Amino acid sequence: MSKPFIIAPSILSADFSKLAEEIKAVEKAGADWIHVDVMDGHFVPNLTIGAPVVNSIRPITKAQLDVHLMIDYPEKYLDDFLAAGADIITIHIESTTKAAECIQLIKESGAKAGITLKPGTALSDIKKYLPSVDLVLVMTVEPGFGGQSFMDDQVAKIDELKKLREENNYNYLIEVDGGVNAATVAKCKNADVLVAGSFVFKNDYAQSIKTLKEAK
Ligand code: DX5
Ligand code: ZN
Repeated sequence: MSKPFIIAPSILSADFSKLAEEIKAVEKAGADWIHVDVMDGHFVPNLTIGAPVVNSIRPITKAQLDVHLMIDYPEKYLDDFLAAGADIITIHIESTTKAAECIQLIKESGAKAGITLKPGTALSDIKKYLPSVDLVLVMTVEPGFGGQSFMDDQVAKIDELKKLREENNYNYLIEVDGGVNAATVAKCKNADVLVAGSFVFKNDYAQSIKTLKEAK
């Protein structure tokens, strides 16, 4: 038996008028982590939330806050997100020339560091960071919006990351983000963590989390 998936509902699909209640509800429904999508309107064509929101939700949940930065120059904002209480911070390889420095700074602060890539970016572009990161996020949609369809052609990255981890004794978790639902979860069997926005928030929270968790 393999371990159940770690489930990280994305609050991008939550009702922001009652964000605290929404977070408590998904936590009670079995969420392991809370996925926070940060967008700047430059790196991706959408604007969402920043460090003050992370700071506000930090005291209301014990779940790990899994912060996915879709912003240019993440190095400028890491201190803010770390001070706000982020447990995991994931940066995009396309967003910075300072990925190694970002990873080091996040880890030195005691948080976990993740790296991710857009669907059009090759896995080879992040290979040199694999020994040092705690998490690798495979985007199975173009970053920017919830509710898109899962891109089957990204599954090979999930499988390759698992193979590389086994061959090299790396320690990262493999997370998948975008279009994850009851129909697509089977393609993510080699991952450890599933992000789900619309599938969780547009259905019964406990039932959808259970469906994903037990799909491993
Ligand atoms: C997209 C975000 C995702 C998104 C997932 O840029 O990174 O986390 O919220 O939403 P669904 O699960 O609806 O595809
Ligand atoms: Zn995300």
